[in-house]
Amino acid sequence: METSTLKRLRVIAPGRINLLGEHLDYNHGIVLPAAIDRFVEFDFNETHRPTVLIEALDLNEQWEFLWSELNDSFTTGWKTYVKGVFLLMGFDSHAPSGLHIRFKSNIPIGAGLSSSAALCCGLAYGLNEIYALGKSRMELALLAQQTEHQFAGVKCGLMDQVASLFGQANHLLAFDCISHDITPFELPLQGAQLFLIDSKVKHNLASSAYNERRASLEEAWGLARASFPHLETWRDLNAAEFEQLSFQLVATTQKRLSYVVEEIARVRAVQNLAKEMALLAPGQHSEVFLAQLGTYLNQTHVGLQAQYEVSCEEIDFLQEAICAQKGVLGARMMGGGFGGCLLVLAKASFFFDRALPTLFAAYEKRYGLAAESIKVKLNNGVSSVYLT
Ligand code: GLA
Repeated sequence: METSTLKRLRVIAPGRINLLGEHLDYNHGIVLPAAIDRFVEFDFNETHRPTVLIEALDLNEQWEFLWSELNDSFTTGWKTYVKGVFLLMGFDSHAPSGLHIRFKSNIPIGAGLSSSAALCCGLAYGLNEIYALGKSRMELALLAQQTEHQFAGVKCGLMDQVASLFGQANHLLAFDCISHDITPFELPLQGAQLFLIDSKVKHNLASSAYNERRASLEEAWGLARASFPHLETWRDLNAAEFEQLSFQLVATTQKRLSYVVEEIARVRAVQNLAKEMALLAPGQHSEVFLAQLGTYLNQTHVGLQAQYEVSCEEIDFLQEAICAQKGVLGARMMGGGFGGCLLVLAKASFFFDRALPTLFAAYEKRYGLAAESIKVKLNNGVSSVYLT
C-alpha cells in the first residue's frame, strides 16, 4: 500500500445522560436521553504492519494482535469491548490493513454515563468509516449493543448506543425502543439547568442484578401476553389488566412492573410538558413547569429506589440532601444503578452555591467518597474528521 493511501481518522464518541425513562429501554418504553460533552476520542491510523495496535492512553495500556489471533484471544476490561466490536464487524481473520488506534476518554468510568457504549460506538463508527463498510448509524448502535450482550455479558437496552450515535446539540432524544423512531426535542429550561453529581460509587452492571431484572420482566411479559393477547407492549397495559396480572407475579416482580408502568406514564407526561414548555415565549414564567418536571424526577428516584430496587445508600443520601437545598427542583439516580451519577434539575445559580461543598463534605465524612458535580451540555452524536 502506498503511504499516501493510508487513512488517518479522528472520531469523537460521546457519553449520555437520560432525563427520564430509566430501565424502560428493554421494557418497551420511550426514553429521553441526550449525548453530552464528555467523550471518548480516537485516532485511527492505517499502517503497513500486519497487526492492530491499540493504546488506551489514560490507562497507559496497549494491546497488539494479529487479526487472525483475535477470535481466540483472552480479554478483560476495555479489550473485551474492542474484541467484540472487531469480531461483530466481521474482522475475524482477514486483515484489511494494519491499524494503530489510540484512544482517551473524559467520561468517568462506572458513573452511569455510558463510557462503554461510547467506546464501542466510536470504535465501530471508525472501522465503518475507514473500511467504507456502509453500515448505518442504527446498525452500528445495534452492533455496539450486541458487543455488550455477547462479550461483556450485560443484556442492556439500546438507549446508550442511540444517544451516543444520534445525539443532537441542545436536544434530548425521544427514542421509541420498539419502533426505533428518534425524535429530537428541546427542553427550554429558562433559568434552570440539568447537572450531574457523581457519587463515585462504582456500579457493576454485569453483577447480574441488571440481567436478573430484565429476565424477570420478560417472564412477566410472557404471562401478560398469555392472559391479554391484544397487548403489543407494556405501554398498552391498563390498570385493570395490571391488577389481574399482579396475582400471577411474585411480589418482587409485581413491584418492578409497577415501576415500569408508572415510569411509562411519567415519560408521557414529561413529553407533554416539554411540548407545553416549548410554547412559552422566552422569559415567560415557567416555574410551574419546572416544578412539575422536578417532581417527576423525584418520583422516578423513589421508584428506582423502592420498586425497581437499583439505588444504593450513598446515592439516596445525596438525593435527599440535594433535594433539601434551596433552588433544587428535583434529582434522581441515573443509569443502570447501584452507584454512579445523580441527575439534578436546579436553578442555574445553585451550581455555584456554597451549599454544595458543605453537602459534599458531609457525604465524604460519612462514606469516605469525594462526590463531584459535573456540568453537562447536550451534544452531537459520534462524529469524525480525516486528518491529513
Ligand atoms: C444502562 C443500560 C441501558 C439502560 C440503563 C437504564 O445504562 O446500558 O440500556 O437500560 O442502564 O435505563
